[in-house]
Amino acid sequence: MSTTTFAILISGLILLQVAGFAAFGFYRQQIRYRALERPEPDFVPPSALAGVTASPAPAMTTKTAAWPGDREFVVQRRVIEDGNASVCSFYLAPTDGAPLPLYQPGQYLTFRLEIPDPAGGAPTSVVRCYSLSDRPRADMYRVSIKRVPAPPGKPEVPPGIASNYFHDHIQEGARLSVRAPSGHFHLDAESELPIVLIAGGIGLTPLLSILNTLAHRADPREVWLFYGVRNRGEHIMKAHLESLRDTHPELHLHVCYAEPSAADRPGIDYQHQGWIDIRLLQKALHFGRYDFYVCGPPAMMETLVPALSESGVADENIHYESFGPASLTKRRGPVSTTVSDPVAVRFSQSGKTIQWDATSESLLELAEDQGIRVDSGCRAGSCGSCQTRIESGEVTYQQTPDADVKPGHCLLCIATPATDLTLAL
Ligand SMILES: Cc1cc2nc3c(=O)[nH]c(=O)nc-3n(C[C@H](O)[C@H](O)[C@H](O)COP(=O)(O)OP(=O)(O)OC[C@H]3O[C@@H](n4cnc5c(N)ncnc54)[C@H](O)[C@@H]3O)c2cc1C
Ligand code: FES
Repeated sequence: MSTTTFAILISGLILLQVAGFAAFGFYRQQIRYRALERPEPDFVPPSALAGVTASPAPAMTTKTAAWPGDREFVVQRRVIEDGNASVCSFYLAPTDGAPLPLYQPGQYLTFRLEIPDPAGGAPTSVVRCYSLSDRPRADMYRVSIKRVPAPPGKPEVPPGIASNYFHDHIQEGARLSVRAPSGHFHLDAESELPIVLIAGGIGLTPLLSILNTLAHRADPREVWLFYGVRNRGEHIMKAHLESLRDTHPELHLHVCYAEPSAADRPGIDYQHQGWIDIRLLQKALHFGRYDFYVCGPPAMMETLVPALSESGVADENIHYESFGPASLTKRRGPVSTTVSDPVAVRFSQSGKTIQWDATSESLLELAEDQGIRVDSGCRAGSCGSCQTRIESGEVTYQQTPDADVKPGHCLLCIATPATDLTLAL
């Protein structure tokens, strides 16, 4: 063989090899793309189905529309999820049997409860949000609710109204009024970055939905879950999390116990002692870019979210949600408003006009102080329950609303008046 023929042969072989690599790369990209995009694969790992009844599922398509207003659901199953029996999952199926809309993992449901008065008076209507805690399914939703006690050292205060009602009175077969999934805290469908989930206590629920979705899709990305609780008694869905870790090599589970009990085994039940902090994240994560999703109690959010920013994580890669201050008023001091001149707030349907003096934290609180009934759920701008039409004037927000606000409306729970204001209440 001449040198020229030999050179042509070698070049041809190299070209063939390069083409082969390119084709393989393209094929892997396609597989990955399909894994990320397809709504529901046929194969369902047993861990992803833990606790879900095996009825044939109606087809789920992205075309299934969210419903307007309330829809009736029936509780199919209740499961206690922690050693202290303070977190209970409720599996909910729509009574109309129609397929459920596809939601974004991380979103929540809004419930309207009519809580009977033990003294025989009129029931109290209460609106509350609960995160969907499992991957999207066409036939069933799941929420996991923590029983909220009275604040420490305040036995005179009633315990949390809705969470205790769920635990004590919502049994299998109970019917519930539920608004469609919503919320802007959810898995970023566009991103392909590795994912870091950081959960404190019951803040695990939306992150569990993200985690179960990624596991179910066999998403090839690396995922870290940092989960902080006091000890094993508070450890939600321990067996499920460990089974996900054991069956998904790309999942790195870091459980932190702040106050481990004598029976809690380091290295087995938990990996780190103490609360989750930025040093732990920096030690455990490799160098590189990640999408961070954070949900936990206020103390965790107030330290970790700014610490992530300060350590150089871009804002677009930090996603967080706080479960908000629930339905209480008067627990924090008044906020300062940007209003320098006194302004008047008129509630047109109630015929009341009140001078705004900043002793109220929000317009919601001002209305409630006047005995004006307003729906509220999250009291943090997330659920949209307190949305009210503005007849005239303008409001200022204390934070960016998370719920979608209709034109000419405002969310009373995070708004203060910017000018004289008339509200359709
Ligand atoms: C988007 C979102 C998602 C959420 N997801 C979940 C979830 O997945 N799981 C979950 O468990 N929760 C979740 N929550 C929180 C949930 O919505 C409720 O806020 C929580 O269950 C408490 O509601 P409650 O009615 O039981 O308590 P509330 O009645 O609102 O009371 C809250 C606390 O205030 C105390 N209190 C009552 N009256 C007074 C008073 N007069 N003075 C001082 N203190 C008082 C109570 O004892 C209790 O400690 C979520 C919240 C949001 C906004
Ligand atoms: S109460 Fe949820 S947005 Fe105002």
